Amino acid sequence: MPTQNTYILAIESSCDDTACAILENDRVLSNVVANQKIHEQYGGVVPELASRAHQSNIIPVVEEALKLAKIDKKQLSAIAFTKGPGLMGSLLVGTSFAKSLALSLNIPLLDVHHMHGHILAHFIDDGQEKPSYPFLALTISGGHTQIVQVNSSSNLVVLGTTQDDAVGEAFDKSGKILGLGYPAGPQIDRLAKLGNPRKFEFPVPKAPDLNYSFSGFKTAVLYFLQRETKKNEDFIKENLEDICASIQYTLIKILFKKLEKAVIQTGIKQVAIGGGVSANSGIREHLKSMESKGWKTFIPPFEYTTDNAAMIGIAGYFKYLENDFAGLDTTASPRIHM
Ligand code: KG4
Ligand code: ZN
Repeated sequence: MPTQNTYILAIESSCDDTACAILENDRVLSNVVANQKIHEQYGGVVPELASRAHQSNIIPVVEEALKLAKIDKKQLSAIAFTKGPGLMGSLLVGTSFAKSLALSLNIPLLDVHHMHGHILAHFIDDGQEKPSYPFLALTISGGHTQIVQVNSSSNLVVLGTTQDDAVGEAFDKSGKILGLGYPAGPQIDRLAKLGNPRKFEFPVPKAPDLNYSFSGFKTAVLYFLQRETKKNEDFIKENLEDICASIQYTLIKILFKKLEKAVIQTGIKQVAIGGGVSANSGIREHLKSMESKGWKTFIPPFEYTTDNAAMIGIAGYFKYLENDFAGLDTTASPRIHM
């Protein structure tokens, strides 16, 4: 460990949130997120509007993060940013800004994989017990659904992944069919608490090994609702809470079927969740309940589940400790692999 404190300014701009955080070693001094409301009216993220909004948000967000952390730019040790995966136009704003800032301050640059950030967010110092290596991470977001074996902060092996949609898309697309706003995940979560999860049955799609598939699920929800609303045009209105509870119940069943298989196959019983969908209260509860089967489970604090820059800061901090710096020729990589 370095004797001096390390101050990292981190930027996350991979999708529709412009975020900046300042970390002192593994401690978060500030964590600012500007959500882009503009996409709600379109029912999904519009890439061109996202990159424009990042352009206007980035300087105010960075200034706010520095102000809240009470840190002067001259104290910074390095700049971390999300290299990918994500939307090209969005990533470019964060990447270009981070490079320019590092160059002007003459400090090193740390390029971070977005999903490493979601996983390593567990190591942010928040007074909670941390997982020890190796552990399994279920990373669930609007773009990803993966089971990852985490051997160290730089050795992360994907054991299974989705072959089509991510689980966040299954939440959002089902919600869109139900007439819920974007993103629908949090709304389904809220409504599901009031409904009966066994009222309606949806199919569990088949996928090989530890992989996932969600595109058939969304289609099944669509056909089910088309069939029912033909019989009763108020079907959705009259059953919204039960439909949401049943959708959420099935998605949890799909996620945990493969996660349980991964625990058995690897013999690793420490299991963490990360990514925007891990904010889901049903998923959190179900994971906790697995402790009765001998699992040790880790759930990140709420503010570090959906996209944020603190997670990019902690992942950058681990790279900093290993002198794993990026060159100024680094580029945004929308489809980067783990
Ligand atoms: O990680 P994230 O903020 O962005 C991506 O990297 O994709 O994840 C966003 C996803 C969206 O699909 C959103 O609906 C979902 O996370 N989400 C939730 C909840 N909160 C956010 N899904 C289910 N329940 C929630 N409480
Ligand atoms: Zn994310």
